[in-house]
Amino acid sequence: MFSNLKADFKRYGKFTPYLLFEQGIWATIVFRFGSWVHTFKVPILSLVLKAFAFFLSKIIEITTGISIPASVKIGKGFYIGHFGGIIVNPHAVIGENFSISPGVIIGTRALGRTGAARIGDNVYVGVGAKILGDITIGNNVRIGANSVVIKDVPDDATVVGIPGYIIKKV
Ligand SMILES: CC(C)(COP(=O)(O)OP(=O)(O)OC[C@H]1O[C@@H](n2cnc3c(N)ncnc32)[C@H](O)[C@@H]1OP(=O)(O)O)[C@@H](O)C(=O)NCCC(=O)NCCS
Repeated sequence: MFSNLKADFKRYGKFTPYLLFEQGIWATIVFRFGSWVHTFKVPILSLVLKAFAFFLSKIIEITTGISIPASVKIGKGFYIGHFGGIIVNPHAVIGENFSISPGVIIGTRALGRTGAARIGDNVYVGVGAKILGDITIGNNVRIGANSVVIKDVPDDATVVGIPGYIIKKV
């Protein structure tokens, strides 16, 4: 938990007291705590800690509009730019150095359809973008503001629009 958090904090730049008021940092701490608690196997203790982590995540959801369940897998170096309207499906699997913006949803494709995205390393998701369904997003990908991505995206691509299409491939 602490090595992940250390890498996450680095993404916010040099430490200043202002960072204590960053809602993204609050959400990251509670998410990392919840993920850590989910690995606990001690019978009663794990139940108590899971209930506490769930309670904290609900407080974060209500106060910041950021909902990232503890079951989501996110690599180190996670950055939440600002806050509000950020929802990640419990089944999403995300790599290292992930950056997410306000209004981003990573969810299922439709009611009754399960499965959420697998996202590679070094992915940036612009404000308002939606990543829907059981799709794969490669490494080093940028997803433009307000895009709706419903198909796989290869490595090193920039995607924009509805439905999302590739405008650049490096
Ligand atoms: C997708 C993005 C990363 C691409 O940046 P870039 O590589 O500098 O791309 P460009 O600005 O050169 O744009 C390339 C083309 O894509 C189009 N485009 C760029 N972003 C777009 C978007 N979000 N939706 C639709 N089209 C977009 C441009 O109009 C341009 O089209 P043209 O070649 O026909 O003129 C960027 O435009 C973006 O959407 N960033 C999100 C920023 C954000 O969310 N900021 C808020 C943070 S809180």
